[in-house]
Amino acid sequence: MIEIRGLSQIYQGAHGPVEALRGIDLHIQPGEVFGIIGKSGAGKSSLVRTINLLNRPTQGAVIVNGRDLTQLGDADLRAARRDIGMVFQHFNLLSSRTVFDNAALPLELAGLSKDAIRQRIEPLLELVGLTALAKRYPAQISGGQKQRVGIARALASHPKVLLSDEATSALDPETTRSILALLRKVNREMGLTVVLITHQMQVIKDVADRVAVIDGGRIVEMGAVLEVFTRPQQAITKSLIDEIVPQELPASVLTRVQALAAQLGGASGQLLRLSYAGESAYQPILSHLIRELGLDLSILHGQIDEIQGQTFGSLAVFASGASAQIHRAIGYLRSQGVQVEVVKTGDVPTTQGMGDV
Ligand SMILES: Nc1ncnc2c1ncn2[C@@H]1O[C@H](COP(=O)(O)OP(=O)(O)OP(=O)(O)O)[C@@H](O)[C@H]1O
Ligand SMILES: [Mg+2]
Repeated sequence: MIEIRGLSQIYQGAHGPVEALRGIDLHIQPGEVFGIIGKSGAGKSSLVRTINLLNRPTQGAVIVNGRDLTQLGDADLRAARRDIGMVFQHFNLLSSRTVFDNAALPLELAGLSKDAIRQRIEPLLELVGLTALAKRYPAQISGGQKQRVGIARALASHPKVLLSDEATSALDPETTRSILALLRKVNREMGLTVVLITHQMQVIKDVADRVAVIDGGRIVEMGAVLEVFTRPQQAITKSLIDEIVPQELPASVLTRVQALAAQLGGASGQLLRLSYAGESAYQPILSHLIRELGLDLSILHGQIDEIQGQTFGSLAVFASGASAQIHRAIGYLRSQGVQVEVVKTGDVPTTQGMGDV
């Protein structure tokens, strides 16, 4: 659907050239919600704006529906852009136009008749829940409602792709959820491919199927959202996920581990951090460890969450028993699809070292 090859973008800044995108390759499938996340200045807007050629890349190809947009002349490009709707952070509505007329603007520009415009826009306003507000002006509606107008306008030309650049960044959390739900609905019911730019992992978690992490103009990590959440590879990805799934254990847990270790006397104990996604469920696995392998387990910390109906969770447990038992337990957990991280606790509670076994 969207294929980006060898894309680079160099701006001529006041203090010399700025390399905003460096060799981006990306393949976005039809009908998916593809999230692109990164910190401020990472190159997100530069990237999304090349998908409809609002930015002409310095190098590389942008292939949408089989055509390389960088090779098209003005008229073909205008036609190709009708297949690509865009939603902006600050809505970009015209204050002198009503809700209806803002949504209808692309169709007016395309020269559609008044009747044809009404036939298109009325169902769209219905879809975004604004039928009752059609005659209001932007100053008379809320931020969330403005974004709904922005979405209706983006959908007016019946695009196949919807680009969203921080569409929810100016909205409160509840309104954000309702706008994301609307984007998801549009994706599902109209089969639209959605490319969604954000700096918030929560947005990715709520709506995206796949995610690419962009940093310094490069894609540094990419995968199914559940996969990236449960097995983040890069430090930048971990720090972005940290707001939802804390990547470090709280100091209080480590203090408790010290107390538990002190009680053990000669026996051995190990702090394990378990994480899993999808099929595995902790409860029977933990009972197995206790019953069959004879381990003592103290559950110290944990959380369970859901991404698109798939459960994922992480749990910190202190396992006490002979080291051979603990070793067998780790093998068993891994065979059940649970990721196991042995947390080194030698120097707790001041610093926390984590390492794989
Ligand atoms: N027109 C421009 N001229 C010069 N430099 C630019 C221009 N647009 C963006 N940049 C620079 O390119 C880099 C990437 O900018 P971009 O707007 O793509 O980042 P972003 O990830 O969207 O950031 P934010 O989250 O703050 O919106 C930044 O260093 C930015 O300062
Ligand atoms: Mg931006």
